[in-house]
Amino acid sequence: MAEDVLEGRRLVLRALTDADAPALLEAVTASRDALHRRLGWAAADATLAGEAAFVAAARAAGAAGASATWGLFEAKGGALAGVAALKELGPAERGHARLALWVRTGRTDRGFATEAGKLVVDHAFRRLELRRLSARLDPANRAFRRVLKKLGFRYEGCLRADKRLNGRWIDQECWGMLREDRAPAKGGKKA
Ligand SMILES: CC(C)(COP(=O)(O)OP(=O)(O)OC[C@H]1O[C@@H](n2cnc3c(N)ncnc32)[C@H](O)[C@@H]1OP(=O)(O)O)[C@@H](O)C(=O)NCCC(=O)NCCS
Repeated sequence: MAEDVLEGRRLVLRALTDADAPALLEAVTASRDALHRRLGWAAADATLAGEAAFVAAARAAGAAGASATWGLFEAKGGALAGVAALKELGPAERGHARLALWVRTGRTDRGFATEAGKLVVDHAFRRLELRRLSARLDPANRAFRRVLKKLGFRYEGCLRADKRLNGRWIDQECWGMLREDRAPAKGGKKA
C-alpha cells in the first residue's frame, strides 16, 4: 500500500477509513464554496453516503496501485484538516503521479498544504521511487501556485481552455517536479 503514515510537525497523514466519513462530510460541507470555486465539486449538498463512497473508492484505487490518498489530521486534537492524493499512479516503469490536495476552510493559510505537500513529495520520491510529479493549476488559484512553488515544482506550460469549470472553459497551468529537482538532503545525497 502506498499510503504509509506520514508524520509532520503539525499534521499526521494517513489513509482514510470508513470511520472518517463523518469528519470528511463536516470538512467538505464547511469548505463547499472554496472546493466548488477551485475544483468544481461539492456543488451539491454532500452526504454521509457520498463521503463513505469516496473513502471506499480511494481504498480500492489505493489497493489497485492507481492512486494514494491521505487524510490530513492535525497532530494536536486529531481534526481532519483536508485530503492529499497522488493520482494517476500508473505502472512502476512510468514513475509518475499527479499531486492534488485541499485544506478545509478555517484551516487555510497556516502552512498545512505546504507541510502535507512536502511529506507527500518526499514519500513519492523516496518510498515510491517516482521519477516525476506533476500538478494542474487553475491560473486564478494563486494560493495553490504559491504552494507548488514552495514545494519546488516548476512551471512547464499552459493548456489553453483545457478544463470545464463551473460552466467556463479555463486554462490549466502545468507544473512539474523531477526527482533531481529536489534540494540535496543532508550529507549531500539526493532522494
Ligand atoms: C490551495 C490550498 C490547498 C492552500 O492550502 P493552505 O493550507 O492555505 O496553503 P499554505 O498555507 O501551505 O500556503 C498558502 C500560500 O499561498 C498564499 N496565498 C493564499 N492566498 C493567496 C492569494 N490569494 N494570492 C497569493 N498568495 C496567496 C499564502 O500567503 C501562502 O504563502 P506564504 O506561505 O508564502 O505566505 C487551499 O487554499 C485549498 O484547499 N483550496 C481549495 C482547493 C484547491 O484549490 N486545491 C488545489 C488544487 S488540487
